[in-house]
Amino acid sequence: MNCLQTPYFLINKDFLDDELLKLKNALQSSWGNYIIGYSYKTNAFPWVINYFKKNGCYAEVVSDDEYNLAKSIGANKIIYNGIAKSKETFIEAVKNNSIVNIDSEYEIDWLDELEKGRYSVGIRVNFDLESKCPGQTQCGEDGERFGFCYENGELKRAIDKIQAKGIKISGLHLHKSSKTRLPDIYKAIADAAVEITDKYELNLDYVDIGGGFFGGLASKPQFIEYFSTVSAILRRNFNPKKTVLVVEPGMALIGAAVDYYTTVKDVKKTIRNMFVVTDGSRTQIDPLMTKSSYFKDIVRNGNEKRTELNRQIICGFTCMEHDRMFEVKNEQELLPNDQIIYHKVGAYTMCLSPLFIKWFPSVYVKDGPKISKVRDKWTDIEYKSRTIGDEK
Ligand SMILES: Cc1ncc(COP(=O)(O)O)c(C=O)c1O
Repeated sequence: MNCLQTPYFLINKDFLDDELLKLKNALQSSWGNYIIGYSYKTNAFPWVINYFKKNGCYAEVVSDDEYNLAKSIGANKIIYNGIAKSKETFIEAVKNNSIVNIDSEYEIDWLDELEKGRYSVGIRVNFDLESKCPGQTQCGEDGERFGFCYENGELKRAIDKIQAKGIKISGLHLHKSSKTRLPDIYKAIADAAVEITDKYELNLDYVDIGGGFFGGLASKPQFIEYFSTVSAILRRNFNPKKTVLVVEPGMALIGAAVDYYTTVKDVKKTIRNMFVVTDGSRTQIDPLMTKSSYFKDIVRNGNEKRTELNRQIICGFTCMEHDRMFEVKNEQELLPNDQIIYHKVGAYTMCLSPLFIKWFPSVYVKDGPKISKVRDKWTDIEYKSRTIGDEK
């Protein structure tokens, strides 16, 4: 591994296989009738989306670009969510019997283009999770902005409007992004699905509980805890033989399966600190600058005698001062050519990081003992592609 040019991402295929199997087993034993939609936004790297397609997952997409990407790899099982659909792709997806969950008023207007009595759609529900799980939602008292609000009657109004156009409501989409990712969230989601279906007398083909689960971490809730909680509640109003349970994991599947390899390039001493400069960057593993710690390994190279230092600050290659990853306290000094490997960095990294100062790094896949390159480091050629005029 040491011989590969850093920085690079490494996708562990065996790990992915194990996690996906665990997820399928948990869904099979708790509900039986399920669909896994892999969340493209979490990491839409081409090898990754192809992997999930080959393994029977739907493509869960939230924009026309992601929709077209799914089609370009031959994915015909699509869940089309979000507020960035185009009219053309929306109509196409509904006509192709994709799972399409309406999230905006203008999508309801687009339904006028469709023949009455022939098609169905799902609808994204906005229910007040903060009151059910105080302190656990991302926006707290300000509330969430996606879907149609249940409590103020907007959801009912939207459902009536869709049905009046001769379009069946076939599913409810209840994805929530929480701070805690705890089973409580999914209990509230399942409760809402049961209550709404009952109150509005819906006859649903599917209940989509979204993503947002933990995965690949022994110390966190396991798949079976989420789905046994959800299934017990859904059974009050739904029959697994008739209603499909849809899940849309991203982080839970790809997060823990990816490592990021970097090398120490320089060590800089100032009167205040010891800075260890690497060829990696926080922009590539924490683009939203929210992480406070990393799963990581430090590999010190060679047999040189090293001094123990109170504090070393590990930094990235960019010219931003806050491109600092972590501190090493009371450890042997780091020297050029040492390696720092970050683990579990597959979610909201490879496909969210900016093209800032350096372009996208290489990506490798490890399958058993075999390591293959699945993307070459980007160069000025990829960076300038589709530029119009003045390309020299
Ligand atoms: C609609 C929808 N589904 C699925 C996901 C995937 O979430 P995660 O990667 O946390 O599993 C998200 C993330 O924001 C989402 O918005």
